[in-house]
Amino acid sequence: MSYCVAIDGPAGAGKSTIAKKIAKQMGLVYVDTGAMYRALALFMIRNGIATDDLESMNTRCEEADITIRYENGEQVVYLNGENVNAYLRTEEVGNMASVSSTQPNVRKKLVSLQKELAKTTDVIMDGRDIGTCVLPDADVKIYLTADSAVRAKRRYDELTAKGITCDLDEIEKDIIDRDHRDMTREESPLRQALDAILVDSSYMTIDEVVETIIKICEEKRGN
Ligand code: DC
Repeated sequence: MSYCVAIDGPAGAGKSTIAKKIAKQMGLVYVDTGAMYRALALFMIRNGIATDDLESMNTRCEEADITIRYENGEQVVYLNGENVNAYLRTEEVGNMASVSSTQPNVRKKLVSLQKELAKTTDVIMDGRDIGTCVLPDADVKIYLTADSAVRAKRRYDELTAKGITCDLDEIEKDIIDRDHRDMTREESPLRQALDAILVDSSYMTIDEVVETIIKICEEKRGN
């Protein structure tokens, strides 16, 4: 049986940065499930589907073939045979993903792909419903969060460092809106699994969070 670590939490809590580091240190494969939802969102945008046209999102996701490969240790997402990694990290795609991921057919399609990946591989998987729905029997479940103001400031610094002009208040508003959508949707909303351990990264460095989670994994393994 494969070994699985599940990390859930709101946008901007640092899940992917931290999961990548833990994957390296613990010899696990990092599975970024948000990238899969983003690839389907990109498909919707490219096909001119409006952000309020939920019905089309639910039916047309059947036309999108999503495959995952690992190239030089990096997860690469293919959308109908095209490597789309370079297009996934924009705000437009993130916002569309937050909407299209509310649709049952979108979730069904990606959850089965994620379950399949974890069957045969030791993974650390991050997302919103990993501990509650995708890997309910994960060996370790972490709920990683941080204050919305702290998450907004991190995002602001990231964008500013890239030379992108942005507004801190607007970023925080966006984060709060996305949290609300992710937490209140009907289909597997974001919530802490009963057996997940809460880690609040608001006042912790990346290395401190990594160390804390690895320690939790080691303690659980020891048991
Ligand atoms: O983690 P991210 O920002 O890349 O995720 C983008 C959106 O995808 C997020 O707003 C909600 C959705 N998502 C989801 O519903 N379930 C997951 N397991 C991962 C992401």
